[in-house]
Amino acid sequence: YGQLHTAAKNAGLLFFGTATDNPELTDSAYLAKLSDSTQFGQITPGNSMKWDAIEPGPGNFTFAAGDVIANLAKKNNQLIRCHNLVWHQQLPSWVTSTAWTPATLTAALQLHVTTEVTHYKGQCYSWDVVNEALNDNGTFRNDIFFSTLGEDYIKIAFDAAAAADPDAKLYYNDFNTEFPGAKSTAALNIVKALKAAGTKIDGVGFQSHFLVGSTPSIATQMKNMGTFTALGVEVAVTELDIRMPLPPTQANVAQQQTDYQTVTAGCLTLKGCIGVTVWDFDDAFSWVPSTFPGTGSACILDDNLNEKPAYFGALAGL
Ligand code: XIL
Repeated sequence: YGQLHTAAKNAGLLFFGTATDNPELTDSAYLAKLSDSTQFGQITPGNSMKWDAIEPGPGNFTFAAGDVIANLAKKNNQLIRCHNLVWHQQLPSWVTSTAWTPATLTAALQLHVTTEVTHYKGQCYSWDVVNEALNDNGTFRNDIFFSTLGEDYIKIAFDAAAAADPDAKLYYNDFNTEFPGAKSTAALNIVKALKAAGTKIDGVGFQSHFLVGSTPSIATQMKNMGTFTALGVEVAVTELDIRMPLPPTQANVAQQQTDYQTVTAGCLTLKGCIGVTVWDFDDAFSWVPSTFPGTGSACILDDNLNEKPAYFGALAGL
Protein backbone atom coordinates (compact mmCIF):
# COMPACT_ATOMS: atom_id res chain seq x y z
CA TYR A 1 0.00 0.00 0.00
CA GLY A 2 2.75 2.56 0.47
CA GLN A 3 3.12 5.43 2.88
CA LEU A 4 1.21 8.67 3.20
CA HIS A 5 3.98 11.25 2.81
CA THR A 6 5.76 9.28 0.12
CA ALA A 7 2.49 8.92 -1.78
CA ALA A 8 1.72 12.62 -1.33
CA LYS A 9 5.16 13.60 -2.65
CA ASN A 10 4.90 11.24 -5.59
CA ALA A 11 1.53 12.75 -6.43
CA GLY A 12 3.00 16.27 -6.44
CA LEU A 13 2.10 17.56 -2.97
CA LEU A 14 4.71 19.02 -0.66
CA PHE A 15 3.72 16.93 2.34
CA PHE A 16 1.36 14.72 4.26
CA GLY A 17 1.76 15.66 7.90
CA THR A 18 0.39 15.46 11.41
CA ALA A 19 0.00 17.49 14.55
CA THR A 20 1.67 16.19 17.66
CA ASP A 21 2.08 17.38 21.24
CA ASN A 22 4.92 17.26 23.75
CA PRO A 23 3.35 14.94 26.38
CA GLU A 24 2.77 12.30 23.68
CA LEU A 25 6.47 11.95 22.91
CA THR A 26 7.08 9.80 25.99
CA ASP A 27 5.06 7.02 24.30
CA SER A 28 7.78 5.21 22.39
CA ALA A 29 5.46 3.32 20.02
CA TYR A 30 3.73 6.59 19.13
CA LEU A 31 7.06 8.39 18.74
CA ALA A 32 8.29 5.73 16.32
CA LYS A 33 5.22 6.18 14.11
CA LEU A 34 5.47 9.98 14.31
CA SER A 35 9.14 9.89 13.35
CA ASP A 36 8.57 7.84 10.20
CA SER A 37 9.05 10.52 7.57
CA THR A 38 7.71 8.23 4.85
CA GLN A 39 4.33 8.62 6.60
CA PHE A 40 4.62 12.16 7.97
CA GLY A 41 6.82 14.61 6.11
CA GLN A 42 5.57 17.51 8.21
CA ILE A 43 4.61 18.06 11.85
CA THR A 44 2.67 20.79 13.65
CA PRO A 45 3.02 21.46 17.39
CA GLY A 46 -0.49 21.06 18.81
CA ASN A 47 0.09 23.40 21.74
CA SER A 48 3.69 24.28 22.50
CA MET A 49 4.06 27.28 20.18
CA LYS A 50 0.85 28.97 21.30
CA TRP A 51 0.95 32.29 23.16
CA ASP A 52 0.33 30.84 26.64
CA ALA A 53 3.19 28.39 26.18
CA ILE A 54 5.64 30.84 24.60
CA GLU A 55 5.05 34.08 26.51
CA PRO A 56 3.34 33.21 29.82
CA GLY A 57 4.28 36.60 31.31
CA PRO A 58 4.79 39.90 29.50
CA GLY A 59 8.19 39.77 27.82
CA ASN A 60 8.90 36.40 29.49
CA PHE A 61 9.56 33.94 26.67
CA THR A 62 9.81 30.17 27.23
CA PHE A 63 10.76 28.26 24.11
CA ALA A 64 11.82 24.90 25.59
CA ALA A 65 8.70 22.90 24.68
CA GLY A 66 8.42 24.42 21.22
CA ASP A 67 12.10 23.69 20.67
CA VAL A 68 11.50 20.01 21.41
CA ILE A 69 9.09 19.84 18.46
CA ALA A 70 11.32 21.92 16.19
CA ASN A 71 14.33 19.73 17.01
CA LEU A 72 12.34 16.55 16.47
CA ALA A 73 11.30 17.75 13.03
CA LYS A 74 14.90 18.55 12.20
CA LYS A 75 16.09 15.15 13.39
CA ASN A 76 13.38 13.37 11.39
CA ASN A 77 13.85 15.52 8.29
CA GLN A 78 10.27 16.81 8.52
CA LEU A 79 8.91 20.26 7.72
CA ILE A 80 7.21 22.18 10.54
CA ARG A 81 4.05 24.22 10.21
CA CYS A 82 4.58 26.56 13.14
CA HIS A 83 1.31 27.19 14.98
CA ASN A 84 0.25 29.84 16.01
CA LEU A 85 1.05 33.47 16.72
CA VAL A 86 -2.29 35.20 17.33
CA TRP A 87 -5.45 33.41 18.46
CA HIS A 88 -8.30 34.20 20.81
CA GLN A 89 -7.76 30.94 22.73
CA GLN A 90 -4.88 29.75 24.90
CA LEU A 91 -3.89 33.29 25.70
CA PRO A 92 -2.17 33.88 29.04
CA SER A 93 -4.33 35.85 31.45
CA TRP A 94 -2.08 38.90 31.27
CA VAL A 95 -3.08 39.31 27.62
CA THR A 96 -6.81 39.03 28.24
CA SER A 97 -6.85 41.07 31.48
CA THR A 98 -4.62 44.06 30.75
CA ALA A 99 -6.41 47.37 30.12
CA TRP A 100 -4.83 47.88 26.71
CA THR A 101 -4.76 50.97 24.58
CA PRO A 102 -4.27 50.55 20.84
CA ALA A 103 -0.65 51.66 21.26
CA THR A 104 0.20 49.30 24.14
CA LEU A 105 -1.46 46.30 22.52
CA THR A 106 0.26 47.01 19.20
CA ALA A 107 3.60 47.01 21.00
CA ALA A 108 2.80 43.78 22.88
CA LEU A 109 1.62 42.07 19.69
CA GLN A 110 4.70 43.15 17.79
CA LEU A 111 6.99 42.00 20.59
CA HIS A 112 5.28 38.61 20.75
CA VAL A 113 5.30 37.97 17.03
CA THR A 114 8.77 39.35 16.41
CA THR A 115 10.38 37.47 19.28
CA GLU A 116 8.74 34.12 18.51
CA VAL A 117 9.27 34.25 14.75
CA THR A 118 12.87 35.39 15.22
CA HIS A 119 13.52 32.51 17.61
CA TYR A 120 12.33 29.96 15.04
CA LYS A 121 13.68 31.82 12.00
CA GLY A 122 14.73 29.44 9.26
CA GLN A 123 13.00 26.46 10.91
CA CYS A 124 9.34 26.96 9.99
CA TYR A 125 7.99 26.04 6.58
CA SER A 126 5.05 28.25 7.49
CA TRP A 127 3.51 30.21 10.33
CA ASP A 128 -0.17 30.30 11.16
CA VAL A 129 0.05 34.02 11.88
CA VAL A 130 -3.59 34.61 12.70
CA ASN A 131 -5.88 31.75 13.70
CA GLU A 132 -9.68 31.83 13.76
CA ALA A 133 -10.28 35.60 13.51
CA LEU A 134 -13.82 35.08 12.22
CA ASN A 135 -17.21 34.12 13.58
CA ASP A 136 -19.26 31.67 11.55
CA ASN A 137 -21.44 34.53 10.24
CA GLY A 138 -18.37 36.21 8.73
CA THR A 139 -17.98 39.01 11.26
CA PHE A 140 -14.73 39.40 13.17
CA ARG A 141 -14.54 37.74 16.56
CA ASN A 142 -14.71 40.44 19.18
CA ASP A 143 -11.64 39.21 21.05
CA ILE A 144 -9.05 41.33 22.86
CA PHE A 145 -7.24 42.04 19.59
CA PHE A 146 -10.26 43.08 17.54
CA SER A 147 -11.95 45.00 20.32
CA THR A 148 -8.78 47.05 20.88
CA LEU A 149 -7.37 47.42 17.37
CA GLY A 150 -10.13 46.50 14.93
CA GLU A 151 -9.03 44.42 11.98
CA ASP A 152 -5.69 46.27 11.88
CA TYR A 153 -4.34 43.68 14.31
CA ILE A 154 -4.18 41.20 11.46
CA LYS A 155 -1.96 43.45 9.37
CA ILE A 156 0.19 44.28 12.40
CA ALA A 157 0.78 40.57 13.06
CA PHE A 158 1.53 39.66 9.45
CA ASP A 159 3.89 42.63 8.98
CA ALA A 160 5.83 41.72 12.12
CA ALA A 161 6.09 38.07 11.06
CA ALA A 162 7.24 38.98 7.53
CA ALA A 163 9.95 41.24 8.91
CA ALA A 164 11.20 38.59 11.35
CA ASP A 165 11.40 35.65 8.91
CA PRO A 166 11.03 36.66 5.26
CA ASP A 167 11.33 33.01 4.13
CA ALA A 168 8.47 31.52 6.17
CA LYS A 169 5.13 31.21 4.41
CA LEU A 170 2.59 33.29 6.31
CA TYR A 171 -0.89 31.81 6.70
CA TYR A 172 -4.35 32.75 7.81
CA ASN A 173 -5.93 29.59 9.33
CA ASP A 174 -9.59 28.91 10.19
CA PHE A 175 -12.43 26.33 10.28
CA ASN A 176 -15.85 26.29 8.63
CA THR A 177 -14.17 28.01 5.70
CA GLU A 178 -13.87 24.73 3.77
CA PHE A 179 -17.13 25.38 1.93
CA PRO A 180 -18.67 28.53 0.42
CA GLY A 181 -20.54 30.87 2.73
CA ALA A 182 -20.25 34.06 4.75
CA LYS A 183 -17.22 32.88 6.69
CA SER A 184 -15.31 31.79 3.61
CA THR A 185 -16.12 35.09 1.92
CA ALA A 186 -14.86 36.96 4.98
CA ALA A 187 -11.61 34.95 4.88
CA LEU A 188 -11.22 35.87 1.21
CA ASN A 189 -11.68 39.48 2.24
CA ILE A 190 -8.88 39.17 4.80
CA VAL A 191 -6.55 37.98 2.04
CA LYS A 192 -7.68 40.76 -0.30
CA ALA A 193 -7.32 43.45 2.37
CA LEU A 194 -3.81 42.34 3.31
CA LYS A 195 -2.73 42.21 -0.31
CA ALA A 196 -4.27 45.61 -1.02
CA ALA A 197 -2.29 47.02 1.92
CA GLY A 198 0.94 45.55 0.55
CA THR A 199 1.20 43.06 3.42
CA LYS A 200 2.71 39.64 2.79
CA ILE A 201 0.29 36.70 3.04
CA ASP A 202 1.27 33.44 1.36
CA GLY A 203 -1.36 30.92 2.32
CA VAL A 204 -4.69 30.03 3.81
CA GLY A 205 -5.16 26.98 6.01
CA PHE A 206 -8.42 25.07 6.10
CA GLN A 207 -8.58 23.27 9.43
CA SER A 208 -11.08 20.65 8.27
CA HIS A 209 -12.41 19.32 11.59
CA PHE A 210 -15.24 17.38 9.98
CA LEU A 211 -18.12 15.20 11.11
CA VAL A 212 -18.39 11.93 9.23
CA GLY A 213 -20.71 12.22 6.25
CA SER A 214 -20.54 16.01 6.13
CA THR A 215 -17.14 16.39 4.53
CA PRO A 216 -17.52 18.77 1.57
CA SER A 217 -17.33 16.99 -1.78
CA ILE A 218 -14.19 17.18 -3.88
CA ALA A 219 -16.01 19.56 -6.20
CA THR A 220 -17.03 21.85 -3.32
CA GLN A 221 -13.57 21.87 -1.80
CA MET A 222 -11.94 22.58 -5.12
CA LYS A 223 -14.35 25.34 -5.99
CA ASN A 224 -13.98 26.94 -2.58
CA MET A 225 -10.21 26.58 -2.15
CA GLY A 226 -9.91 27.66 -5.77
CA THR A 227 -11.37 31.06 -4.92
CA PHE A 228 -8.36 31.52 -2.61
CA THR A 229 -5.69 30.23 -4.97
CA ALA A 230 -7.15 32.58 -7.59
CA LEU A 231 -5.98 35.43 -5.33
CA GLY A 232 -2.42 34.13 -5.54
CA VAL A 233 -2.12 32.35 -2.19
CA GLU A 234 -1.42 28.67 -1.62
CA VAL A 235 -3.80 26.59 0.46
CA ALA A 236 -3.42 23.60 2.76
CA VAL A 237 -5.60 21.28 4.79
CA THR A 238 -4.12 21.98 8.20
CA GLU A 239 -5.97 20.12 10.98
CA LEU A 240 -7.91 17.27 9.41
CA ASP A 241 -9.95 14.91 11.56
CA ILE A 242 -13.31 13.30 10.87
CA ARG A 243 -15.26 12.44 14.00
CA MET A 244 -18.28 10.19 14.40
CA PRO A 245 -20.81 9.43 17.13
CA LEU A 246 -19.57 6.75 19.54
CA PRO A 247 -19.59 3.83 19.34
CA PRO A 248 -18.55 3.63 15.69
CA THR A 249 -20.92 1.79 13.36
CA GLN A 250 -19.73 -0.14 10.34
CA ALA A 251 -21.51 2.38 8.11
CA ASN A 252 -19.70 5.32 9.73
CA VAL A 253 -16.34 3.58 9.56
CA ALA A 254 -16.87 3.05 5.83
CA GLN A 255 -18.11 6.62 5.34
CA GLN A 256 -15.04 7.92 7.20
CA GLN A 257 -12.79 6.02 4.81
CA THR A 258 -14.57 7.72 1.89
CA ASP A 259 -14.37 11.11 3.60
CA TYR A 260 -10.62 10.89 4.21
CA GLN A 261 -10.16 9.94 0.58
CA THR A 262 -12.32 12.89 -0.46
CA VAL A 263 -10.09 15.32 1.40
CA THR A 264 -6.73 14.04 0.18
CA ALA A 265 -8.06 13.74 -3.37
CA GLY A 266 -9.54 17.24 -3.17
CA CYS A 267 -6.21 18.75 -2.17
CA LEU A 268 -4.37 16.74 -4.77
CA THR A 269 -6.71 17.79 -7.53
CA LEU A 270 -6.55 21.50 -6.76
CA LYS A 271 -3.42 23.16 -8.08
CA GLY A 272 -2.13 25.36 -5.27
CA CYS A 273 -3.11 22.98 -2.45
CA ILE A 274 0.27 22.02 -1.08
CA GLY A 275 -0.45 19.43 1.61
CA VAL A 276 -2.69 17.73 4.11
CA THR A 277 -2.05 17.65 7.86
CA VAL A 278 -4.08 15.49 10.24
CA TRP A 279 -4.73 16.81 13.76
CA ASP A 280 -2.80 13.95 15.26
CA PHE A 281 -2.92 10.50 13.79
CA ASP A 282 -4.09 8.17 16.52
CA ASP A 283 -7.37 8.11 18.41
CA ALA A 284 -5.62 7.85 21.77
CA PHE A 285 -4.22 11.39 21.46
CA SER A 286 -7.06 13.05 19.57
CA TRP A 287 -8.53 16.28 20.96
CA VAL A 288 -11.96 15.26 19.61
CA PRO A 289 -13.56 13.19 22.43
CA SER A 290 -12.97 15.91 25.05
CA THR A 291 -14.05 18.73 22.73
CA PHE A 292 -17.06 17.14 21.02
CA PRO A 293 -18.54 14.90 23.73
CA GLY A 294 -20.16 11.71 22.47
CA THR A 295 -17.97 11.65 19.37
CA GLY A 296 -14.51 10.29 18.62
CA SER A 297 -12.67 7.75 16.51
CA ALA A 298 -11.72 10.68 14.31
CA CYS A 299 -8.17 9.72 13.33
CA ILE A 300 -6.52 7.43 10.79
CA LEU A 301 -5.03 5.04 13.39
CA ASP A 302 -6.87 3.51 16.33
CA ASP A 303 -5.96 3.62 20.04
CA ASN A 304 -3.41 0.87 19.48
CA LEU A 305 -1.75 2.56 16.51
CA ASN A 306 -3.32 0.19 13.99
CA GLU A 307 -4.38 1.52 10.59
CA LYS A 308 -8.13 2.01 10.26
CA PRO A 309 -10.08 2.06 6.98
CA ALA A 310 -9.68 5.86 7.26
CA TYR A 311 -5.92 5.44 6.78
CA PHE A 312 -6.44 3.54 3.56
CA GLY A 313 -8.95 6.15 2.46
CA ALA A 314 -6.43 8.95 2.96
CA LEU A 315 -3.84 6.93 1.07
CA ALA A 316 -6.20 6.07 -1.76
CA GLY A 317 -6.83 9.76 -2.41
CA LEU A 318 -3.13 10.42 -3.02
C1 XIL B 1 -6.28 22.17 20.23
C2 XIL B 1 -5.30 21.15 20.83
O1 XIL B 1 -5.25 20.00 20.04
C3 XIL B 1 -5.74 20.80 22.24
O2 XIL B 1 -4.78 19.95 22.87
C4 XIL B 1 -5.93 22.06 23.08
O3 XIL B 1 -6.42 21.72 24.34
C5 XIL B 1 -6.89 23.01 22.38
O4 XIL B 1 -6.41 23.28 21.08
N1 XIL B 1 -8.03 24.70 16.16
C6 XIL B 1 -6.69 24.98 16.29
C7 XIL B 1 -5.83 24.17 17.19
O5 XIL B 1 -6.18 25.85 15.56
O6 XIL B 1 -4.81 24.92 17.77
C8 XIL B 1 -6.64 23.48 18.26
O7 XIL B 1 -5.80 22.61 18.99
C9 XIL B 1 -7.81 22.75 17.65
C10 XIL B 1 -8.72 23.72 16.94
